[in-house]
Amino acid sequence: MIRFDSVTKRYPDGTTAVDGLSFEVGEGELVTLVGPSGCGKTTTMMMVNRLIDPTHGRISVDGADIAGVDPVQLRRRMGYVIQQTGLFPHRTVLDNTATVPVLTGWKKAKARERAAELLDLVGLDPGVYGSRYPEQLSGGQRQRVGVARALAADPPVLLMDEPFGAVDPVVRDRLQKEFLRLQATMHKTVLLVTHDIEEAIRLGDRIAVYGTGRIEQYDTPASVLGAPATPYVAEFVGTDRALKQLSVTTIDRADLERPPFARLDEPAAEAMTRMRTEGARWAVVLDEEGELHGWVGTEELVGAAGTVAGHARRMEAWVPVTGTLKDAFSEMLKHDAGWIAVLDGHRFLGVLTPTTLHEALRRTIGGRGERGVRRERAEVDSVPTQ
Ligand SMILES: Nc1ncnc2c1ncn2[C@@H]1O[C@H](COP(=O)(O)OP(=O)(O)OP(=O)(O)O)[C@@H](O)[C@H]1O
Ligand SMILES: [Mg+2]
Repeated sequence: MIRFDSVTKRYPDGTTAVDGLSFEVGEGELVTLVGPSGCGKTTTMMMVNRLIDPTHGRISVDGADIAGVDPVQLRRRMGYVIQQTGLFPHRTVLDNTATVPVLTGWKKAKARERAAELLDLVGLDPGVYGSRYPEQLSGGQRQRVGVARALAADPPVLLMDEPFGAVDPVVRDRLQKEFLRLQATMHKTVLLVTHDIEEAIRLGDRIAVYGTGRIEQYDTPASVLGAPATPYVAEFVGTDRALKQLSVTTIDRADLERPPFARLDEPAAEAMTRMRTEGARWAVVLDEEGELHGWVGTEELVGAAGTVAGHARRMEAWVPVTGTLKDAFSEMLKHDAGWIAVLDGHRFLGVLTPTTLHEALRRTIGGRGERGVRRERAEVDSVPTQ
């Protein structure tokens, strides 16, 4: 969708802002550009909508070299959140937000209606803020108007230069969540600049980590954290990357252990004898479809009548297989559980234990390496305490 081929920008005073940049952003992809101040992020962004032109190299959008596209036409397809928000000081918040729809020929009333919806979306009551002027807002509020304005004309491409930079951590968290929720339905192609590696990881499908004027690594958050391409990237993503990694690593079926199980319709006495023979103190309870119905300890089955069904205890600690290692870890802590079940729909796939979680994490941090737990020796020796 957006493609950079060996793009260099040298400013007239001789500063090389970016040097030989090549990367591609897929349609519907959200790419974050992260790096220290002055490394060329804003310059990269401004070349996409031709606010500045490259000195060398080529940028194409939808396969067409943008050097041959009229800048005004180009910008109509791209919402732009400017680093310093760039609101018109003499226009109200509502009219600022409605700028692009009006430019593209919407009726004023309809454009204002849309603007009000978007202000609401970014957490600014249009009834309170709509009639104010930018100078009557805080920096963070101005920034949110900037985001609303970029979304107003519903462009396929969004260029966002530190859109959440001036808001406090609580509001930023909310705006990031809201933005991800929107993006899941909008599927816009987004380039988003940030200083903040956490934000880059949280929002990006892929991250471009900038050194000075060049990209040091361009990859998924999990790969950037798990296998930093250079010592610079490793340092930039920080020493606590193990923790960040948890939230971007999905559960791998190969990491799951298969604990002993009892069938729902199995006579209790039989299940107990079998479990004792196998040396198991507890088992997960499954039906013939492999769906999870809870768990049962051998003690509960001593002298018990009927089938296992009557003795199964509810399994509180579980995560869907689509979850992350962080989800698994939080569930484990929340339920004070020694293991948690991993489900595909209702179907039981296996369990994660602190040992397997740690192994999974260590492997992703190392980027390669061995699976440390041998399946046949995997042992699950604690039960949820509830
Ligand atoms: N018009 C200009 N003329 C000369 N040099 C410029 C110009 N604009 C930017 N630069 C320089 O180009 C380099 C990259 O600037 P750019 O604004 O792209 O950085 P950035 O990564 O967005 O930084 P920040 O995180 O501080 O916003 C910097 O060294 C900057 O001083
Ligand atoms: Mg910048």
